[in-house]
Amino acid sequence: MLFGCQSTQYPKDYEQLGEDERIVIRFSHVVGEDTPKGLAARKFAQLVKDRSNGYVEVQVFPNGFLYKDGEEMEALLQGDVQMIAPATSKVTELIPEWSVIDLPFAFNSYEEVHKYIASPVGKGLSSKFDNHGLLMLGMWDNGFKQISNRDHPILKPADLHNLKIRIMPSEILEKQFISLGAIPQKIDFNTVFTHLEKSDIDGQENTLSNITSKNLHYHQNYLTISDHGYLGYLLLMNKEFWDKLPQSIQILIKDTLKEVSEWEMEQAKKTNGEKLAELEDCQCIDIYRLSDEEKQAWEKDFKPIYDYFTVKYGEKYIKALPKYKE
Ligand code: LMR
Repeated sequence: MLFGCQSTQYPKDYEQLGEDERIVIRFSHVVGEDTPKGLAARKFAQLVKDRSNGYVEVQVFPNGFLYKDGEEMEALLQGDVQMIAPATSKVTELIPEWSVIDLPFAFNSYEEVHKYIASPVGKGLSSKFDNHGLLMLGMWDNGFKQISNRDHPILKPADLHNLKIRIMPSEILEKQFISLGAIPQKIDFNTVFTHLEKSDIDGQENTLSNITSKNLHYHQNYLTISDHGYLGYLLLMNKEFWDKLPQSIQILIKDTLKEVSEWEMEQAKKTNGEKLAELEDCQCIDIYRLSDEEKQAWEKDFKPIYDYFTVKYGEKYIKALPKYKE
């Protein structure tokens, strides 16, 4: 998904740029290179380089090498990097209304999320970055989160009682686990493996591509396919940097992102499906799929979180969710 794409024809005025006028876009992210986001970031960098005859270089820094989870937003705001693609949950400290995406069982499919983001309410959320000197250029998918645990299977909410579960930094994700009697732990993505290894935490929630790319399942014995929450990324650029780019480069970037975003979304679906098949084949983790009836039982426990969100941020975000529109 991409906003404001203008044209596929761009004047090549950047070809007149001198060697020392090359444009460098530093793009930092926290996942591995073999994930949907990692692959798409690399593809974007290559296409931009080819299409600008090398005048625009997107330097991709994966795995949180340059800036860790809690640091990349600050780095973008300061202009130390020009582009990041954090999970929606990770922008909620800056713009809490984005935590509507974290509400458990808010969406049943990628398409429902895309529609929500394209709706007037979604567009309102996207434009909130303007007040922070940022520009949202679009969105990439990862997938739906699943829950893994060390000591016992998670089949019903009570199974989470007193378990320490790693979450991304988001108040709604925190409430999601507190409401089930668990103890949520906000932990940097790239240290989750070590925390699981040391048994500092019992379990975690994430997409299968994220779980397998960091081998989180090595220290987990049970996996629940719950699809309880969507994890996707916001393509954010520093606005001051963007505004200084020649218009032709802005168009090139938007056009290229549009193309890469379509590819990334296919890739995300495919990868998460493949990773499930691999985990089923490896017989290295017990897999349980929540039935629709079981999901309904979970959903009941989450009702107070929806009420909390409504009181805090108004009902328009909730009312626009697919399940309340039908
Ligand atoms: C996480 O922290 O679990 C994810 O946000 C990582 C990512 O960027 O997919």
